[in-house]
Amino acid sequence: MSDESIVKLGRANYMNNYSQFPIAIKSGRGIVLEDEDGRQYLDFVAGIAVNALGYGDEDEKKALLSVLESGVLHTSNLYYNSHAVHAAAMLNSLAGSDAVFFCNSGAEANEAALKMARKYGSSNGRSMLISFHHSFHGRTYGAVTVTGQEKYHKGFSPMLPDVVYAEYNDLDSVRALADSRLAAIIVEPLQGEGGIIPARKDFLEGLREICCEHDALLIFDEVQCGMGRTGKPFCFQHYGVTPDILTLAKALGGGLPMGAALAFGKAKDIFAPGDHAATFGGNVAAAALAEVVLSKLPALSEEVQKNGEYLGKKLDEIVEKHPDLCQSARGLGFMRGIELKIPPRDVISRCMEKGLLVCSAGYTVLRFVPPLIATREDIDKAAAIVDAALSEI
Ligand SMILES: Cc1ncc(COP(=O)(O)O)c(C=O)c1O
Repeated sequence: MSDESIVKLGRANYMNNYSQFPIAIKSGRGIVLEDEDGRQYLDFVAGIAVNALGYGDEDEKKALLSVLESGVLHTSNLYYNSHAVHAAAMLNSLAGSDAVFFCNSGAEANEAALKMARKYGSSNGRSMLISFHHSFHGRTYGAVTVTGQEKYHKGFSPMLPDVVYAEYNDLDSVRALADSRLAAIIVEPLQGEGGIIPARKDFLEGLREICCEHDALLIFDEVQCGMGRTGKPFCFQHYGVTPDILTLAKALGGGLPMGAALAFGKAKDIFAPGDHAATFGGNVAAAALAEVVLSKLPALSEEVQKNGEYLGKKLDEIVEKHPDLCQSARGLGFMRGIELKIPPRDVISRCMEKGLLVCSAGYTVLRFVPPLIATREDIDKAAAIVDAALSEI
């Protein structure tokens, strides 16, 4: 089939909730994707920060084939399976956490965290959740309520009760809201969809203090910025601030749907049997891929640390060269963005025509979240294409 016929079939049969680009991806190798018409793209989107190992990873292939050969793709949570328990042990070892709940997506991981927070607070009547403006936590009702962006709430009222929003990187705005009703604070250590905005160290340290003062839980949403993307296995490890709950998804399942909520210390025993569940949580195939990704995470993070700085340098050069179109570049590791002075869609389309996939974050940010295996050579190629696209405008 051609790109055109697939796009046409999709438009005829999908709900109208996405603004999809008119190409259909067919295959991939390394960090290069090919569409149905045979055009190739250097991929700096990675399925929106999912495909950490790029495409065609041999270890992922072996792991998935062995699951297929076993005949069991799914067991339910009535029984244990070796892949999920090993993935949980690896997560606890890498993050320093004590217990893991597996689910299927970032929104679901955050729902689990919010329910833990409400249950923890319920013993003494605390239910208030503090979240932040420009945050993004997913589209289910709880997750979208704590998403501090009006556009995601419009038309869907009423939202979850007892949720208030503070300013990101502004501790005073949090202190003004926090009182004895506080159950939890949920925050992205590096805001993604809101426009690639890193937290300041003193901000995360202050949130930790406020949560300790009020015996509330600190939830770090690392659905996008976790799993090696910022140059450490987890973003909070740059800051030396430990959360009570860490949520993950995206890259965790190596391309299969998988999310997780990791509990630290006192959060470990909040859930009792029957409190929460997900039929597919710890799915055998997804967990087998998670084992592969997690086994490579320490080495990959080190590479991202080095190559991420190089990406940052190249983006700074682009900003300097196009001051009429670009405001600034920011981010960490392989989660970076250029704040543009124009809407990003035109730049994205021009990059796509020239063989590079990039995406937006917020209204004005051009986002770069390549597979974690991207090399300096890939970065040079991508930077040259962005430069050429901006030069045309
Ligand atoms: C920080 C963050 N949290 C949660 C989510 C929601 O994840 P999912 O789309 O897997 O539900 C996202 C998705 O972009 C995200 O970036």
